[in-house]
Amino acid sequence: MNQFKENLFDDPNKSNTGVMAVKGSLDTRHGPILYMEDVSVSFDGFKALNKLSLYIDDGELRCLIGPNGAGKTTLMDVITGKTRPDTGSVFFGQTINLLEMDEPAIAQAGICRKFQKPSVFDALTVFENLELALKADKGAWHTLFFRLTGEQRDRIDEVLATIGLTEATQYRAGILSHGQKQWLEIGMLLMQEPKVMLVDEPIAGMTHQEIERTAELLLSLQGKHSIVVVEHDMEFVRSIARKVTVLHEGSVLTEGTMDEVQNDPRVIQVYLGG
Ligand SMILES: Nc1ncnc2c1ncn2[C@@H]1O[C@H](COP(=O)(O)OP(=O)(O)OP(=O)(O)O)[C@@H](O)[C@H]1O
Ligand SMILES: [Mg+2]
Repeated sequence: MNQFKENLFDDPNKSNTGVMAVKGSLDTRHGPILYMEDVSVSFDGFKALNKLSLYIDDGELRCLIGPNGAGKTTLMDVITGKTRPDTGSVFFGQTINLLEMDEPAIAQAGICRKFQKPSVFDALTVFENLELALKADKGAWHTLFFRLTGEQRDRIDEVLATIGLTEATQYRAGILSHGQKQWLEIGMLLMQEPKVMLVDEPIAGMTHQEIERTAELLLSLQGKHSIVVVEHDMEFVRSIARKVTVLHEGSVLTEGTMDEVQNDPRVIQVYLGG
């Protein structure tokens, strides 16, 4: 009966960020933060997603694996509103229908995506990149003399520590290593305090040390954010995996721990071909 009232107080952050397009508030009391049910996407008759159902719990770190062309990136495209499914439903929490929202509204509602190629601003410092991400979130692009509040400065410092770039605050992003740029971009997403982060192939091109640091970073984010990581590097997946979902030909083949999926004959078959 008082569900609506509870929903109202679910997420105080949203009240001052002008989320006009979201109908209802995020409701994760039943566990999942993302629901995809019976989702199909076809490109010229080819089913990139085929009656796919996937549930991501609030705060979990989920790894998504599967051979090339399995539909992993398409799945992220559907969640973020870039691709519209032919059939199926996609909900954010219990009540927010993502299929009724466009890409900016979905991002504004708290679902963000890290693309493979870092898109930080090379000419700006690390700090300025984070500051810019904050302004973009607050819709303050037009405010030329935007001043940070103490709270916002603290938030930037907190994110700098999380991504391990405290020492590099005043460096121009252009001189950062590839790995550091990737972390900075994750930091820019974190400035927007996303509920869900979708991360597609985060460690491509990283050194061994950077890969280890990225694993630590993603592990440190779980609980506070729900994270879906797509990655081909199985050693990396093993190092962060809790629950692993295996995609094949646009559907979920199986889910479980890394050991469970790696010993599943169907998974072995799919990876070895035949
Ligand atoms: N815009 C598009 N037009 C036509 N076909 C597409 C389009 N996007 C994806 N596909 C096809 O859909 C299938 C799934 O692609 P997707 O990129 O989701 O796979 P993936 O699991 O991310 O693969 P990879 O591991 O190689 O990144 C592939 O066969 C791909 O060629
Ligand atoms: Mg892909």
